[in-house]
Amino acid sequence: MRRPLGIPLAILGVIVVIGVVVTFDYITLLFDPVTDNAIDFEVLAVDNESHLPITANPQLIPKILHQTWKNETVPEVWRAAQESCLKSHPDFEYKLWTDESARQFIVDEYPWFLDTYDSYPFNIMRADVIRYFVLAHFGGIYIDLDEGCQSRLDPLLTYPAWVRKADPTGVSNSVMGSTPRHPFFLRVMLELKNYNFNWHVPYITVMYATGPLFLSVIWKQYKRWAVSDAEQVWILMPAEPGAAYFNDLHGSSWHEDDAKWIMYLGIHWLFFTVLGFLLAAVVGLISYLVVRRMYPRMPLKYKYLEYGE
Ligand SMILES: *[C@@H]1O[C@H](CO)[C@@H](O)[C@H](O)[C@H]1NC(C)=O
Ligand SMILES: *[C@@H]1O[C@H](CO)[C@@H](O)[C@H](O)[C@H]1NC(C)=O
Repeated sequence: MRRPLGIPLAILGVIVVIGVVVTFDYITLLFDPVTDNAIDFEVLAVDNESHLPITANPQLIPKILHQTWKNETVPEVWRAAQESCLKSHPDFEYKLWTDESARQFIVDEYPWFLDTYDSYPFNIMRADVIRYFVLAHFGGIYIDLDEGCQSRLDPLLTYPAWVRKADPTGVSNSVMGSTPRHPFFLRVMLELKNYNFNWHVPYITVMYATGPLFLSVIWKQYKRWAVSDAEQVWILMPAEPGAAYFNDLHGSSWHEDDAKWIMYLGIHWLFFTVLGFLLAAVVGLISYLVVRRMYPRMPLKYKYLEYGE
């Protein structure tokens, strides 16, 4: 008579395990200080007068700057930021990915991804993914259009792959660098299909499927599974005096981003808490029904007898 009780317990166990597996990366992300593998500020230091980099480390990332906009006409508010990067890097190849050239690139190079690419409900999601694809494909540095360049980016070319720390946790996809075919960005590229899920709340969909939260989760998984020293992803920490590389020329979007992050995390906490309660309720109900079915109206004293056998 003891065996049937194993079934509700097994169901409960399976549901708990699935719950932990599904949410593990998100939960641990909240407690990751994102301080390991930080890029060394001494390497980033630039000369006080000439603003030229001091490091003698070899260049690994090719000199290519990638940016994205819907077409060739960059809005006036971002011209100054765009110009600041172009002017200080005349020896870099510059690629401005438009809606049209980005899609054509996917058609030509990654046709297996085209269905997913076209399926995204928001343009911002295509703008997110194209940056991962071009970094994995060509290598180079991707910079959001509203980020200006304060110094030459050469020291950042001496790390094989890097992303910027986000506030309060995780990593951001606003500025990133990579060598071509780096295993991290290859993995990001391949995982996009698996995370293409519409949560029916726009920014949750964007964050989970293609945005910074997606990138942070893949980064957590990547760190966890077998990364050799040479393949690790480096983290660009918030700027220090003398080693500030990017600045936001049109004002407050840094703070807006921070506020958004906190809001997202708050919403996620709520989301997981509600999900947890629902799960617990379902598990409780199933267990109750199963037990009721298996031991219909069994008087309590019989149970004691069984245990005493
Ligand atoms: C550059 O400036 C920083 C801070 O202003 C200072 O600490 C540092 O000593 C200066 N370096 C040189 C080489 O002058
Ligand atoms: C880009 O789009 C804007 C508005 O969406 C439009 O005014 C502009 O003419 C477009 N530029 C080109 C080159 O098509």
